[in-house]
Amino acid sequence: MCGIFAYMNYRVPRTRKEIFETLIKGLQRLEYRGYDSAGVAIDGHNNEVKERHIQLVKKRGNVKALDEELYKQDSMDLKVEFETHFGIAHTRWATHGVPNAVNSHPQRSDKGNEFVVIHNGIITNYKDLRKFLESKGYEFESETDTETIAKLIKYVFDNRETEDITFSTLVERVIQQLEGAFALVFKSIHYPGEAVATRRGSPLLIGVRSKYKLSTEQIPILYRTRNFENVKNICKTRMKRLDSSTCLHAVGDKAVEFFFASDASAIIEHTNRVIFLEDDDIAAVADGKLSIHRVKRSASDDPSRAIQTLQMELQQIMKGNFSAFMQKEIFEQPESVFNTMRGRVNFETNTVLLGGLKDHLKEIRRCRRLIVIGCGTSYHAAVATRQVLEELTELPVMVELASDFLDRNTPVFRDDVCFFISQSGETADTLLALRYCKDRRALTVGVTNTVGSSISRETDCGVHINAGPEIGVASTKAYTSQFISLVMFGLMMSEDRISLQNRRREIICGLRSLPGLIKEVLSLDEKIHDLALELYTQRSLLVMGRGYNYATCLEGALKIKEITYMHSEGILAGELKHGPLALIDKQMPVIMVIMKDPCFAKCQNALQQVTARQGRPIILCSRDDTESSKFAYKTIELPHTVDCLQGILSVIPLQLLSFHLAVLRGYDVDFPRNLAKSVTVE
Ligand code: F6R
Repeated sequence: MCGIFAYMNYRVPRTRKEIFETLIKGLQRLEYRGYDSAGVAIDGHNNEVKERHIQLVKKRGNVKALDEELYKQDSMDLKVEFETHFGIAHTRWATHGVPNAVNSHPQRSDKGNEFVVIHNGIITNYKDLRKFLESKGYEFESETDTETIAKLIKYVFDNRETEDITFSTLVERVIQQLEGAFALVFKSIHYPGEAVATRRGSPLLIGVRSKYKLSTEQIPILYRTRNFENVKNICKTRMKRLDSSTCLHAVGDKAVEFFFASDASAIIEHTNRVIFLEDDDIAAVADGKLSIHRVKRSASDDPSRAIQTLQMELQQIMKGNFSAFMQKEIFEQPESVFNTMRGRVNFETNTVLLGGLKDHLKEIRRCRRLIVIGCGTSYHAAVATRQVLEELTELPVMVELASDFLDRNTPVFRDDVCFFISQSGETADTLLALRYCKDRRALTVGVTNTVGSSISRETDCGVHINAGPEIGVASTKAYTSQFISLVMFGLMMSEDRISLQNRRREIICGLRSLPGLIKEVLSLDEKIHDLALELYTQRSLLVMGRGYNYATCLEGALKIKEITYMHSEGILAGELKHGPLALIDKQMPVIMVIMKDPCFAKCQNALQQVTARQGRPIILCSRDDTESSKFAYKTIELPHTVDCLQGILSVIPLQLLSFHLAVLRGYDVDFPRNLAKSVTVE
C-alpha cells in the first residue's frame, strides 16, 4: 500500500515553491497509506530554458524528511515560475526492497530520467519482465517491481515504429504486459507538460479545478481494439494515432489544474470535482485536455466517466466510511490476509513458498527447536499458531514474551531457530531478544510488517506479512496476517512429509476460503454493536476458551483492556477450576469461545461449570452448534473453518466488540491513553 499524488498546472502560473507545497501536502494526506520513504519528480528548468530535464528527489523516511530535503537542493530556484508544469510524488510502504532512496519512487527508466513513474500495487510478473529487459541491455538499480515499468516504457519508446507515437499509446502497450495490481502515473522528458495515468486493481482518481466552465461533465471513453500478445511482439503492432486533438470531449484546455491521487483525501482541499478511473482506463492530459481511453470495453461497459462532486469532509475520506483507523483496519482484513498469502500459496499445487526463508529451509529443518518470541499481540500470534507449528514441523516449539525471555536468561543454542514477531519491527524488548539470540549464534527469523525495520534488518532471514500500514494503536489486521504467515511457514516446512499431506491440503483449502469467511464474520458487526450496548457500563469482562482458541481469548482481552480501559482477562478454560471460577456469578460477564474442534467436549464442561454458578455466558460458537447455544445467554455464530485457522475468524468479533465498547464509553479508539504504536524503549 503506497500513496500516489501528482499535480499539473496548465496555464496557471505556479512557482516551484508552490508546486513543492502542493505535492508535499498531497503526500501528507496519503501518509497513512505508507510512510517509509518518499520522493518527487519535477521539471529541473523553467519555461525559458529549452532543454528540460526531470529532477528526482527521494528520501528514506516520512514525508517531512522529503520536505526538508527538497529545500536543501541547491539547484532548485524556488521562485522560478512555471506556466505549465507536471509534478509527481509518492509515499511508500515497501513490498519489494528495503526502504531507501534508490528503492523509493518515482522510479526511472535510465540515468537521464527520460521516463519516471510512481506506482501503488504489486507487479507479480516483474521478474520475467526484468529478465527480458536485462537481456536487452537495460540496467537496473533498485530492487523494486516498479523499476521494471519505467524500463519497459523506455523499451517501447526506443523501439517505436513511428516518431509521433503518443505518450498514452506507450503506456497502453506497457500495461498490456503487466500482471498484478497497479495504479500508475507517468512523466517524461519526451512529452513535456503531458501526463498519463492508469490503474488495474488499485484505486486512482483525478481532480479537476478550473475557473472556466468545463467543456463537458461526462468524458466518453475512446476504445481501441488491438491487443498485444507478449513482450516479444510489443513493438511490432501498429496502433492508430490517438491524441488530444482527436478527443472531442476532453476536459480542460484553458487554464486548468489536474490532481491525480490514490484517494480523495489528497484532492478534496483543492477541488471536489473528481473522476474515478476504472480498471484499464488510460487517462492522458496533453495541451491541457484530459481524455480517457481503453483497449477493451470495461466489465461495467459504461461508455463514459462522469465528473463527480465529492460531498465528503477530508477527515471522513481518509478513514473512508469508518470512524477510526482501527475500525477501518478490522474491515480491511479480507484484503490484508489475501495480501499476506498473495504469490506465496499455490492453491493448485498445494504448495507454499516464502521467498525470504527458502534458502534457510534445510537449516531450519535440522534445528533442535523453534523459539517464537514477541510482545503483546505479536506474542499472541505465536501462541495461536504454536500447536499447528508443532504438528507441521514436528519440532518442539517454545513461545516466549520477549521481556520474560530476557529476564530468565533463557538458554539458547546455535542449533535453535528463533522467530521474532513484530508488526513495527522496532519493539525494543523483541529487538533485544533478537540480539541475545544472535550472540548465541541461533538462526534468527523476522516476521514483521515493516520492510527495513530494525528487526527485519538484523535477522538472518524473514517474512514480510504484507498487511499494509497499521495506524490504530490497537493491532488488528497485523495479528491475522502474522497468524497466517506462521501457518504458511509450517506448511512450507511440511511439504515433503507424506503423512501430513491430507492435513496440509485441508489447511491450504482453509486458507483459500478465509477472505470470504472473514467478510461473513464482519457482517455480524451490528449484532456485536448491540452486544456492546449491553456491556459497555460493566467494569470487567472475562474471555474464556482453550486449545486453538486460547490465544483468541488473550488477544480479545488485550484489545478490550487497551482501548476500553475495562478490566479484562483471557482465561484458559482448563484452568477454570483452579481459581477463576471464584469470579463467576450472575453479574460477571463471561465470553466463552467454543468451537467445533478437539477441545469441544472439554469446553462444554467449562460451560456447565459457568452456568451452574448462575453465570450468563455469551458464546462465540460455530453456526451448526446447537448444543452450546442451549446454555447461552447470547450467541455469536461464526462460520466454520479448519480448527487451526478458526482463531482468525473468532478474534474478529472480539476486535469489533472492543471497538464498539470503547466508542460507547467515549474514548479515542486510535490513540488509547498511555500507549504508543511502536514501543522502542524497554
Ligand atoms: C496491542 C498491541 C501491542 C503490540 C506490541 C508489540 O494491540 O498493539 O501489544 O502488539 O507492543 O508490537 P510490535 O508487534 O510492533 O512488536
